[in-house]
Parts: sequence; structure tokens; C-alpha cells
Amino acid sequence: MKTIDMYFDLIKKNKLRLAPMAGVTNSPFREICILNNSGFVTSEEIDATSLVYDKSIRTKEIASFNIKEKPIALQLLGCDEKIMPEAAIILQQMGADIIDINMGCPVPKITKKGKGSALMKDIIQTSKLVNKIRKVTKIPLTAKIRSGWNEEDQNAVEFSKMLEEEGIDGITVHPRTRAQRYEGISKWEIIKNVVDNINIPVTGNGDVKSFEDAELMIKNTGCHSVMIGRSAIGNPWIFNPQFQKLDEIKRIKKMINDIKIHIDYIKQFFAEKNIDLQIKKQLSYYSKGLINSKELRQKIFRSNEDIEIIILYFFENLEKHFNYEDVKLEKASI
Ligand SMILES: Cc1cc2nc3c(=O)[nH]c(=O)nc-3n(C[C@H](O)[C@H](O)[C@H](O)COP(=O)(O)O)c2cc1C
Repeated sequence: MKTIDMYFDLIKKNKLRLAPMAGVTNSPFREICILNNSGFVTSEEIDATSLVYDKSIRTKEIASFNIKEKPIALQLLGCDEKIMPEAAIILQQMGADIIDINMGCPVPKITKKGKGSALMKDIIQTSKLVNKIRKVTKIPLTAKIRSGWNEEDQNAVEFSKMLEEEGIDGITVHPRTRAQRYEGISKWEIIKNVVDNINIPVTGNGDVKSFEDAELMIKNTGCHSVMIGRSAIGNPWIFNPQFQKLDEIKRIKKMINDIKIHIDYIKQFFAEKNIDLQIKKQLSYYSKGLINSKELRQKIFRSNEDIEIIILYFFENLEKHFNYEDVKLEKASI
């Protein structure tokens, strides 16, 4: 089967998915999103040089995944024509089902080295790079791009055509320029322009804040699927239309249950020394919007208490927020 057909098949079954976010979408969080109906997930960006040469624990953690996450896309960050194909081979050996190339990261320390969104500045050089990666990649190969480098240089359409010619199987478009970072509104019409000009699947991304927004993006742009990033932080239920239909008590029960599962996944996945910080980070995301959330976050990060006491404190605050006696009773039986 051709990789493009494999990718079309995957996209058809996975219309709404979690977007990659460095420092957030690690394996435990991805699993919670999958539990709540996210389509296939993408790893955080994996630095190709670290993967090929230093093999640090941090890089290993970023690149690893649970078998239950398959099919999974692993995302490569880099620009070196020799290292990137080597890294792609390693990711295939690790069991990736899709390799995604990061062409959107706006962070200066990354772009200064020619990686991430800097790849969009040099279309000829990037076409050579993609050509080399394509030659060694036997699975679907995709790219995640922005609308361009800055206001004056918005080349998403031309760039996508080049990617299609070089054999890329699918493109995700986050329609902000590198200069915009995450500010301003993402221009969905750029997603439509890309869709109208290429024949491979396009995934739309940017400012999707609900299931309904995702449907609207598909309707307005013609994109084949949608990725949600920031609105999924602390809210994996965004992928789950059933969750929205639950009555309030059942919804809170499900939240408590899922957060507990998430904590267990973190304990199983991370190296001992990283567990507490990872739990604190996720609890602080979940505390967004709760009453006293600021104090709660301060307590989570500043307290020297044992992590189990902090977890208990978080759940007590969740109860306080909703203030339902029946939730307390139900919780006791979970
Ligand atoms: C904290 C953070 C980390 C991110 N890390 C990555 C990354 O590793 N790879 C990537 O392709 N995009 C990354 N992104 C971009 C998101 O995938 C997404 O394109 C962007 O947030 C817009 O979508 P949203 O409006 O749904 O958040 C990151 C975004 C944020 C906020």
C-alpha cells in the first residue's frame, strides 16, 4: 500500500486530534486524550541531533510512547540533511506509524539554528531536506507548517505545493506567521487556500476551542481533519462529545476518575525524579477555572508537602468548586 493511501485511511478515521505541544503532550496526557476520543496523537517535537547523538534521558522520554497510543505520529525537529534521515530511520525502528516534520516552531533558539519555522524561509533548501527524508521513510511522512515567516512572506500555499511534489503525504496548517507566535487570530482562510491548491490531506489547526469550532473549521475550509492544541490543556474532554452530553454530576465524576487515571499514568511513565513536577504541572492545568485557582496553583507549586497530600488538596478544591454532596459519596466509591 502506498504511504499516501495509508495516510488517507488514517485521516478518515481520525478527524479530531490532539496537537503536539512541547512540555505538555507527553505520553500520559496523550493517553488521557485518546481515552476521550482524540484521534491518533503526535509526540512533542523530538530534536533529531539529540536523538541521533546524545540519546539523553529527556529525549528518550519525549520520543517514547505506550503501545496503546498506536497509531502514533512522532515529530522530528531539525534541518540537517544528514542527521534528519538518520533520525527518521530511528523513529521508524521505534515503531512510529507516521513521521511528522516540525516546520512551525517559532522559538528563537530553535529558528536561529535553521529549525522549525525557519525551514519555511528557504524553500529550495527545505525541498532537498524533505527529499532526503522521504527516501528513507517507508511510512506516511507529514509536515506541520505555519502561514509563513512574517506578514510580508506568507508562503503557505507555494510551500505546501513543494512539499506535495517532494512526496509528503499530509500537511497540518497553523495559519499564523512565525512573527505572530501564538498571538492574534489564526486566519482560517489560509487553510482553505492550501486545501484548494494541493491533493494531499490537510489538517487545520488554530484557535479551535470546542467540538463545534472543529466542525466549523472543516465546513469553512474543506480541511480533512482538525488538531486542537491549547484548548485541550487541562481539558482532554474537549475531544469527547459524549462528555458534553452528561449531566453535571456524571461529568464531575468522569473528571475525577480521569484525573486519577492521568496521575497513575504519570507515575508509571516518568523517571522517579520527574514524577512530582509532572503531577504538579497537570494539576495546575486542571485547576484552571476553579474557584481559588490562583491560590490552589500557588499551593501546588510552592508547597513542600508530600505529593499525595497535594493531590488530596487538589481534589478537595475540586469538590469545593462543585459543592455536590453526591459527588463526594460517588468519589468515595471510585
Ligand atoms: C506550549 C506549546 C508547545 C508547542 N509545541 C509544539 C511542538 O512541539 N510541535 C508543534 O508542531 N507545534 C507545537 N505547538 C503548536 C501547537 O501544536 C499548535 O499549532 C498551536 O498551539 C495552535 O493551535 P491551538 O490554537 O489549538 O493551540 C506548541 C504550542 C504550545 C502552546
